[in-house]
Amino acid sequence: MFQVPRGTRDFTPDEMQKRRYLEQNMATTFTSFGYGEIQTPTFENLELFTAKSGESIINELYTFTDKGGRALALRPELTAPVIRCYVERLQMEPKPLKLFYFGNCYRYDRPQKGRYREFQQAGCEVIGTGTCEATAELLALAYTLLKNTGLKNIRLNIGNLTIISAIFKKLRLLKDDQKILLPLIDKSQFDDLKIALRDCNVSEEMIDTFLEVLQTSDITKIRSFISEDTDAKTELTTMETILNLLKNAFHINEYEIKLSIVRGLDYYKGLVFEIDAPVLGAEKQLCGGGSYDLIPLFGGTEVPTSGFAIGFDRTILALEEEMFLFPALKLDVFVIPVNETMNTTAIQIVQELRGHGISADFDQLRRGMGKSLKYADAKHAEKVIIVGPKELENKTVTLRDMKTGTQEIVALADIYTKLKKI
Ligand code: HAM
Repeated sequence: MFQVPRGTRDFTPDEMQKRRYLEQNMATTFTSFGYGEIQTPTFENLELFTAKSGESIINELYTFTDKGGRALALRPELTAPVIRCYVERLQMEPKPLKLFYFGNCYRYDRPQKGRYREFQQAGCEVIGTGTCEATAELLALAYTLLKNTGLKNIRLNIGNLTIISAIFKKLRLLKDDQKILLPLIDKSQFDDLKIALRDCNVSEEMIDTFLEVLQTSDITKIRSFISEDTDAKTELTTMETILNLLKNAFHINEYEIKLSIVRGLDYYKGLVFEIDAPVLGAEKQLCGGGSYDLIPLFGGTEVPTSGFAIGFDRTILALEEEMFLFPALKLDVFVIPVNETMNTTAIQIVQELRGHGISADFDQLRRGMGKSLKYADAKHAEKVIIVGPKELENKTVTLRDMKTGTQEIVALADIYTKLKKI
């Protein structure tokens, strides 16, 4: 027996129905915010991903050499591919360039609920603007996308890497120390962080204040801690402007400043953010993003860039946990010929219905009425058309409502208009 490879999944028609619902819903929100869709290849040259992160990232990638000897990788995310495409083909486009995407990603992660080796992201990149308006809109879009899917309980947390850098400078931490500390901050492992800071010779008093600042959402407290750093102070004021816009212009009040949001990827700078669904427990992060720098590294002319990606699979899990009622996979009409001589007519009716934009199917197993009705029910058919010789003589058929069980005789000529109305 064969099984799906570890960390991958098959999706049945019912599951695909949920995924298509979500994709359409999100595409509608993206386009309502003025975004255009982009698609890039599933695999890229390996260098695209090692350019920023170094060779160490290879451990987390699916890499292979093709028959021409090229080193390639299945994409672990879409930001680097989209920026590569921008530098190659889109630099002359009017700015800001607002791009959204859906795509499968591959990471050599340890699989568990909500964490897969093949998963889908829905994301976007905004290229050519770094204004407060643009950043506020990006936050609003991420939040609105998830709310529009039907999710009720989500948390938007906003951090800032410029401010974290200023704090590291204040604590006189070296670059190597930061490499050890950042993952601990990212995972909110504050006890381990305390020990690591002691190892870096930071005073107890400084450690306590730092931990407090990392966990507070009080801007005044943060400002007083970084008061000697001009860059960080300017960044904090910018962040306040962004948050005011988010609240007053985009009407989104449910967010928190959380400096412990530092993001795992290497290309971020300045404002970063995450959205969680607490209902998911361990793998609760639905969305991550922020502003970043990749264009100069890929040989393009530097312009501001920011974006985010939503874990598509986790969003479905969160909706399921919240008992969201996804639209069911349904069939408008199932046609049952009462005997084999009615088959051709039944198929002709089905084809006419399909031509009128009505989804239709017919019994292909030459079953009796009872079994055919059972099958129609299993396919969530709304109506059943029964084609019998007696009715057909009068150019009529029997139309059955599957919800109520009521039946009526309908003229064949009227059936399409009748079903269309329904
Ligand atoms: P990321 O945080 O690595 O960011 O991934 C974004 C989202 O993808 C996560 O929040 C999570 O929901 C989902 N995700 C990540 N890994 C897995 C996995 N193994 N299984 C299931 N879901 C997963 C990025 O990828 C950035 N490119 C986002 C971005 C776009 N930043 C700027 N622009």
